[in-house]
Amino acid sequence: MTEHTTDERLRERARAVIPGGMYGHQAAPGAAYPQFMRGGRGARIWDVDGNEYVDLMCSYGPVVLGHRHPRVEAAAAEQAASGDCQNGPGPVMVDLAELLVQTVRHADWAIFAKNGTDATTMCCTIARAQTGRDKILVATGAYHGAAPWCTPRPAGVTPQDRANLGHYTFNDLASVRSAAARAGDDLAGIMVSPFKHDAGYDQELVDPAFARGLRALCDETGAALILDDVRCGFRLHLGSSWEPVGVDPDLSAWSKAIANGRALAAVLGNDAFRGGAQQVFVTGSFWFSAVPMAAAVATIGALKDEGAIETMRRQGEALRDGILDQARAWDLAVRYTGPPVMPYLTFAGDQGHELAGVFAAQALRGGAYLHPRHNWFVSAAMTGDDLALALEATDQAFAAVRKHLGQ
Ligand SMILES: Cc1ncc(COP(=O)(O)O)c(C=O)c1O
Repeated sequence: MTEHTTDERLRERARAVIPGGMYGHQAAPGAAYPQFMRGGRGARIWDVDGNEYVDLMCSYGPVVLGHRHPRVEAAAAEQAASGDCQNGPGPVMVDLAELLVQTVRHADWAIFAKNGTDATTMCCTIARAQTGRDKILVATGAYHGAAPWCTPRPAGVTPQDRANLGHYTFNDLASVRSAAARAGDDLAGIMVSPFKHDAGYDQELVDPAFARGLRALCDETGAALILDDVRCGFRLHLGSSWEPVGVDPDLSAWSKAIANGRALAAVLGNDAFRGGAQQVFVTGSFWFSAVPMAAAVATIGALKDEGAIETMRRQGEALRDGILDQARAWDLAVRYTGPPVMPYLTFAGDQGHELAGVFAAQALRGGAYLHPRHNWFVSAAMTGDDLALALEATDQAFAAVRKHLGQ
């Protein structure tokens, strides 16, 4: 009789009661991957069968300080001991809003929610309420969430859901100007990611002239410049991700890393858009929960006190240098794109991500959990040992790609 792993048994049960067995971005990214995870500590994670990995996905972004960071866990536990979901928010909501306004340069106010999609959607609603206009421009291929207006899958979406969107090409100011001209006097906002991180493609850093051009266009037209900082926020910079570029948005959307893995999202905005933010009715049963807010206050404190952004950058650069050395040694043509803390690796001429799949599966077997079609994430918990183990795994992964190519 075949012995089944815990993961296999869970998958079989899931197939009966969960549509498709699993859905969304956490459906296992390949046959080699476990579907179900048991836990994690620091930069290590374990699947339900007890296999250990160095975590290079960080729960797809939320885990920034490492799993079960002591300061964050203590703050969450302390808040949980007195209350979480109540008839009104805890005092920590005001503490957190003040902290975000102090930490993020463009922010004069904060509204909280749960997921990144809540935040990006709310940015559009606030921009429309403030301007009295309808059209929002987004970059073709950019991901802003899973609501009908922005989901990448067409199933269940009506043309009306998208009727008020216009499209431009990231880093191409002329394309934004054309899309803005098509929107005419109905342009409510322009949404943009800090850099181009479309899943499955080489990543592209922002051209500062493009960012400045968007700012100027929004100033000319009165439209909101909306930065979708859901994926990058507090991983690239302790402030909005465009602060180093010198461009401040009017509204920004946050989630993922702001509470080191607790469910929380935020919209931050400037005074010019405070009126719109006051008019809209935005709420949710769990949007005021105090535990994630306490976790966020502790996360931002730890990011500052522990120099976490710098640690991630240093470890991300070491990972990049190690991987690029290995690719050269195996004589494989690769592109390693994006900021070192959120890198993505592609192989030249890799149709359908076949080589990326071989690479990722072997890296997993060697103990590094990364992804064949989505950018990776480096956390501040990554130690020298974690890095060495990850690089051993990627070396084996390049060997597997070489073998797959039959040379
Ligand atoms: C840039 C960006 N915006 C929005 C979202 C949506 O966030 P959530 O999945 O929390 O709704 C994501 C999620 O990956 C994202 O990467």
